Amino acid sequence: MIAAYFEQLIFGYYPYLAGTVFLIGSLLRFDHGQYTWKTGSSQMLSSKNMRLASNLFHIGILVIFFGHVVGLLTPHWVYAPFFSASTKQIMAITVGGIAGVLCLIGGAMLLYRRLFNPRVRASSSLMDNLILAMLVIQAALGLGTVVFSLGHLDGELMLQLSAWAQAIVYFGGNAAQHMAGVGWVYKIHVFLGLTIVMLFPFSRLVHVWSAPVGYFGRNYQIVRRRSTGVR
Ligand code: HEM
Repeated sequence: MIAAYFEQLIFGYYPYLAGTVFLIGSLLRFDHGQYTWKTGSSQMLSSKNMRLASNLFHIGILVIFFGHVVGLLTPHWVYAPFFSASTKQIMAITVGGIAGVLCLIGGAMLLYRRLFNPRVRASSSLMDNLILAMLVIQAALGLGTVVFSLGHLDGELMLQLSAWAQAIVYFGGNAAQHMAGVGWVYKIHVFLGLTIVMLFPFSRLVHVWSAPVGYFGRNYQIVRRRSTGVR
């Protein structure tokens, strides 16, 4: 009885609370805190291993992000004519697993630097440390789900988790019922993921909204040396 209540609360209502705070919080911060809307780069304080760590982390998390969106939100009937749920699960485990390892290694390096480099530590806020630690733990939990998923490669559990995500995002209703009987690693991973979404507007993660996507399609800039008149 009480377990069903919490299941409904965490997997039925909490996603909408997190999503609402994410959207309205981001809008308010953009409107009221323009000068706080930044990545908060600390590269000039210490650049040792920064490029490697940052690249591993960002490549990993971007692949995971698009993998989660496509993997969890594509209805089964869209890909069923081409491959089975089991094949899709193996693809998710392979691609997500590799990206998860990159993200975890890069994230752990960044977290170590943030906590133990005196200059970086001195300029870090509690939220900077907290959100990075949460992302590292989240990547580790995601890899934990892979260990469980390897035990049942028929794709059934993946379909159940996708059904939950689709019921939430497409307003299908009764989302929480899909989480019944799902293993604890998946549940903690989903709960922590939703909490990261909710904290997003209050952290440096807002820079994700400002990803320079337009850069890839913009016109070339022609840069010429100013003529000095001397040849
Ligand atoms: C709202 C946020 C999130 C939700 C709802 C979510 C949900 C899930 C679910 C349901 C799975 C299992 C997929 C399956 O077995 O079929 C999974 C796997 C995984 N997640 Fe997340 N996740 C979230 C955020 C994140 C973040 C931020 C990271 C990284 C920092 C991450 C890393 C992983 C990894 C590495 C896996 C295993 C590989 C894979 O299946 O892609 N997740 N996630």
